[in-house]
Amino acid sequence: MSKSDQKPEQTNQSWGGRFSEPVDAFVERFTASVGFDQRLYNQDINGSIAHATMLAEVGVLTSEEKELIIDGLEAVRADIDAGNFTWSVSLEDVHMNIEAALTERIGIAGKKLHTGRSRNDQVATDIRLYLRDEIDAISRELTRLQQGLLDLAEREADTIMPGFTHLQTAQPVTFGHHLLAWFEMLQRDHGRLIDCRARLNQSPLGAAALAGTTYPINRARTAELLGFDKPTENSLDSVSDRDFAIEFCSFASILLTHLSRASEELVLWTSAQFGFIELPDRFCTGSSIMPQKKNPDVPELVRGKTGRVNGHLISLLTLMKSQPLAYNKDNQEDKEPLFDTADTVKDCLRAFADMVPAIKPRKENMYEAARRGFSTATDLADYLVRKGTPFRDAHEVVGKSVAYGIETGKDLSEMSLEELQQFSDTITADVFDVLTLEGSVAARDHIGGTAPDQVRAAVKRARAGL
Ligand code: ARG
Repeated sequence: MSKSDQKPEQTNQSWGGRFSEPVDAFVERFTASVGFDQRLYNQDINGSIAHATMLAEVGVLTSEEKELIIDGLEAVRADIDAGNFTWSVSLEDVHMNIEAALTERIGIAGKKLHTGRSRNDQVATDIRLYLRDEIDAISRELTRLQQGLLDLAEREADTIMPGFTHLQTAQPVTFGHHLLAWFEMLQRDHGRLIDCRARLNQSPLGAAALAGTTYPINRARTAELLGFDKPTENSLDSVSDRDFAIEFCSFASILLTHLSRASEELVLWTSAQFGFIELPDRFCTGSSIMPQKKNPDVPELVRGKTGRVNGHLISLLTLMKSQPLAYNKDNQEDKEPLFDTADTVKDCLRAFADMVPAIKPRKENMYEAARRGFSTATDLADYLVRKGTPFRDAHEVVGKSVAYGIETGKDLSEMSLEELQQFSDTITADVFDVLTLEGSVAARDHIGGTAPDQVRAAVKRARAGL
């Protein structure tokens, strides 16, 4: 038996009335959440202050009692902030720890704070307040990353690289265009985050244990005091709903999926085989055995964090599956996955927002790679079509030209006019305008296309929308 498993002397002071023996020491430790939910102390205190304020307004507390409670709660907050607070496992959770400390400070008025509420609506309120703050912090970090992408995309609007399908060189694109694809993924994520906040921002306070309360409470007032848009509609749903946590974790999973894709590309691009970009040393680490190594640890780790965030989403979905109404102790298990998801998302966004502006493209390598891969083959086919050749025949002609290029080690743009004319006599000297990489990207000149001017216009629109 470990020290923390020794028998407590008393029954729990918050609910011990109907119990004839103290709770088993192991059960006490097993059921306690204070080890992790103490993180909600600010939200818990803010919720209590709003509740007490409202109770005084409707005449359930006197204004002296309300003042005592608020001053007492602020003093408890100051103690916790200063690290002068002892969290007690026998008081189970953050809510009862704070209430007990309050009562110890101010006496009988402290025991009145819990009038007309339950820990069930209290904890539901606390998590919503917590998540709302996290969402706002995450939104700021996401914006910083998106701005960094737009700046880099604008700088690299003319930089040519190979575009890939199946990871095989397909057609030339601009590096700015590629970065704007990342931007679009994040822009959808941002939309999901904002939607989640809007649905989350309703106050469950006043639902009490499950059915509401007999006191003449004013739920709209506590909602207003806590910055919620309005009170939730149904008390049973209010204490049991954790959709907002699932929605947030869904957002996080999709975001991390996007960051993992970008990470994978950064890892590939920094390799000697690609050599497309350089990451500054401060985002990389070395090897303890291979002196030549510079490893892209930061993007690799972001890629890896996707696994734990996906795991948390599955945890929460499974936690809620088949739960009968209303509150069940199962719900205490919502916190650790949620906290870790928010922490992980913030760290990954920070890593990316710091790293993106520091990406150094190695433009000559990108250009060479695009030139080597017959990336203008489609342009040659389109050229023949414009001159009257049906597309399927044009495809055939270009296929033969590429085969010849592979055999002779020449890119299409390096062949002479006579060499090209072996495959079609429709080809004339103006073909070289479309066979250059610059001509190829500039020709894709429509909304969503890779032409440098389109990239610049897209950056402009995106800036206006941020
Ligand atoms: N620690 C609990 C939780 O996180 C607070 C609510 C407890 N309610 C109850 N009826 N036991 O869910």
